[in-house]
Amino acid sequence: MILVSGASGFIGSAITRHLLSAGLEVRAMGRSIDRARSVLGSFPEARRALGEKRLTFVSADVTQPHTLPAAVRGVEVVVQAAQFPNAPVENPARGWTYMKVDRDGTINLLGALAQVYRAQTAGPSMARFPEGAPRFLYVSGVTVSEAAVTTWDRAKWQAEEAIRSSGLDWTIVRNSPTVGPRDVSFNRIIGYSAFLPFVPIFGNGEERLTPVYIEDVGRFFVRLVQEPQQARDTTFPLGGPDTVTTNQLLRLYLQLLGRRRPILHIPKPVGMIAGGVAQLAPVERKPLSAAAVEFSSKGGTADLALLHERFPDFELTPLREALMSYLGDAGGVARP
Ligand SMILES: NC(=O)c1ccc[n+]([C@@H]2O[C@H](COP(=O)([O-])OP(=O)(O)OC[C@H]3O[C@@H](n4cnc5c(N)ncnc54)[C@H](OP(=O)(O)O)[C@@H]3O)[C@@H](O)[C@H]2O)c1
Repeated sequence: MILVSGASGFIGSAITRHLLSAGLEVRAMGRSIDRARSVLGSFPEARRALGEKRLTFVSADVTQPHTLPAAVRGVEVVVQAAQFPNAPVENPARGWTYMKVDRDGTINLLGALAQVYRAQTAGPSMARFPEGAPRFLYVSGVTVSEAAVTTWDRAKWQAEEAIRSSGLDWTIVRNSPTVGPRDVSFNRIIGYSAFLPFVPIFGNGEERLTPVYIEDVGRFFVRLVQEPQQARDTTFPLGGPDTVTTNQLLRLYLQLLGRRRPILHIPKPVGMIAGGVAQLAPVERKPLSAAAVEFSSKGGTADLALLHERFPDFELTPLREALMSYLGDAGGVARP
């Protein structure tokens, strides 16, 4: 039994689908069971697993520690892929921040595991959890490092540190920006080209990325679950096989969609002012923030050496092939 936290999300739903396709049993966790049912119910492998009682749902909130022990009871693996709504635009008044959900939410899950499996999470010197305690898999980000200074990287770094010192068997995947039909960042940007004569982005677009295909992320998590000896206590950078700049990535989208549009580079300071103004909007999901402008233009590439060393037969999908699989002849980008 694998608990997937954030199972209705972009990354979590792909991991869930692939685990189910591999014949495994998943307990899908999120705040809303209805949302998880509706998202996962649109996939045939999840419908089949529902019929076979290999897919169940649990409502729990990583920011509410009392909701978590029941969710983690009786599982062999925990996958933490929860993220606050409307990321990367934080809403501190609602608790929708990297620190609250990425860091504290992860620490709360570790605390629930300690409570249920009777070990303390007191730091690096503690004994490991007893035999049979769940493994912990975490979806981190490709730019996370000890030296990173931005809020999102600090939050994930601190979550990673809590995992590494928890006493559980752990695996951390530092995931690159991920492409797929349900991605809400690149699809949103490129979606503007449907009604604007240009594609607007913040900054010069020359930052380098290794975008990874969502199906590869899902497949990789199956390998991590099935081959614990290759994954134990390891941090894997994960990205696609192609390194591109944001400009090159967007041009590839446009080429595959058959649209001729220039990329309009909006200077970051202008974006940050717009982000500050957007914070005044009287809505929960603010359209922009200064930090989100920075986040969206941060870049980051994955060094795949460790992945290739541990999983030499794991093949990553070339970027063009990945995009073609869902842009194809649909004539447009799927709405997230
Ligand atoms: N998307 C990318 O390109 C990318 C790249 C690298 C790393 N990542 C990382 O991958 C993880 C997942 O990202 P994503 O893009 O899949 O996010 P997402 O699509 O926004 O999904 C978020 C998931 O978390 C759940 N959730 C939200 N708040 C929660 C809470 N308080 N307690 C429990 N569950 C909660 C949501 O369901 P409910 O709303 O029903 O609770 C949803 O299932 C994040 O850590 C993100 O930083 C993503």
